[in-house]
Amino acid sequence: MNDPTSSKKKLEGKVAIISGGASGIGEATARHFADHGARAVVIADIHDERGCQGAASIGSRCRYIKCDVTDEQQVKSLVESTVQIYGQLDIMFSNAGIISTCEQNILDFDLIACDYLFAINVRGVAACVKHTARAMVKGGIRGSIVCTASVTATMGAGTKIDYTMSKHAVLGLVRSASKGLGEHGIRVNCVSPSAVATPLLCHEMDTTVEEVEKYFEPMTSLKGGVLKVRHVTDAVLFLASEDSAFVTGHNLIVDAYFVLHHGHEDGKNSANGMYSKFPHGQYESNNNERRVCGDGELNDTL
Ligand SMILES: NC(=O)c1ccc[n+]([C@@H]2O[C@H](COP(=O)([O-])OP(=O)(O)OC[C@H]3O[C@@H](n4cnc5c(N)ncnc54)[C@H](O)[C@@H]3O)[C@@H](O)[C@H]2O)c1
Repeated sequence: MNDPTSSKKKLEGKVAIISGGASGIGEATARHFADHGARAVVIADIHDERGCQGAASIGSRCRYIKCDVTDEQQVKSLVESTVQIYGQLDIMFSNAGIISTCEQNILDFDLIACDYLFAINVRGVAACVKHTARAMVKGGIRGSIVCTASVTATMGAGTKIDYTMSKHAVLGLVRSASKGLGEHGIRVNCVSPSAVATPLLCHEMDTTVEEVEKYFEPMTSLKGGVLKVRHVTDAVLFLASEDSAFVTGHNLIVDAYFVLHHGHEDGKNSANGMYSKFPHGQYESNNNERRVCGDGELNDTL
C-alpha cells in the first residue's frame, strides 16, 4: 500500500497498454495513468485519428499503436512491440468494447451480430489477457491486468442480451485467469461501471452527455452526483496500482448502488430495458422508478 499521507504518483515507472484507449473510459484512463507517473502509456485502438490525437495531447510518454483486438496476431504484436520498445509491460487495461448492433431480445436474437460483438468484447479481451500474461510471466513481472466488464456482468436484461452475455464472459475470464496467474504474482481484476456518458452511450442513446446523465441520475441510490468517467478511471487506477496489491479475481462495481442492479437481492436482478434511443422529453421519474411514456421504451443498461 502507498503511504496514505503521501500524494505520490501511483504508477511511477510503469508501462501500460490500454485497449480502446482512443475514446471514452480508455482515453480518460490513458490521461490518468500518465498523470500518475506512468513511464509509458500505449493507446491501442482501431480509431487512428482519435488515437493519434489523444496520444499527442497526453505527451511524449504516450503513443498510439493500431490494434484490432479481434485479430490475435495484432494483439500479440502489440504486446511484443511494447515490451521491445519499453523493456517491460506492467499493466494491461483491456477495455475495448462495443454495444449490441441491434435490438437483441431473445426471440429475435441475431447470432451473427452476437458473433461480431463477442469477437471484440470476449475474444478480444481474452487475447489481451493471454498475450499480456505470457509477456509478464516471461519477463518475471508481477503485473496487473484490469478488464472492463459492466454492471450487466451480474444481471439479466431483456434486450441487448449479447452485450450482457459478453460481460458475464469477461467476469468468468477474470475469475479464471486470476487463478491461473496467481502463482506468477499477476493480478487480474475487472471494473464494472453502470451507465456513464461516453461517446458509446451518447451515440447509442442518440443524445448529449447532459441528457444521458439526467436520465440515469435518478437510478442511483447514492444521491448528489452522477457517474462520471473519472469515477471509473479512479477505480481502474486502484486496480492497476499497488494500492490493490492483495486484490485479484475481483469485480469492482462502480455504480453508486444502481437500483436496477441492486433492486432485488435474490440474484434475479433484471433490467427489462434501460436504454436504446433516448426518449426525448418522454420520460418521467418517480422515486427511482423510470417510466417512459409515449412510444419510448425502458432501455437496457451498460
Ligand atoms: N459507457 C458506459 O456506460 C459503459 C458502462 C459499462 C461498461 N462499459 C464498457 O466500457 C468499455 C469502454 O466503453 P466506452 O463507453 O468508453 O466506449 P467508447 O466507444 O467511447 O470507447 C470504446 C473504444 O473501443 C474501441 N474499439 C472498438 N472496437 C475495437 C477493436 N476491435 N479493437 C480495438 N479497439 C476497439 C473504439 O474505437 C473506442 O475507441 C467497453 O468495454 C464498454 O462495454 C461502458
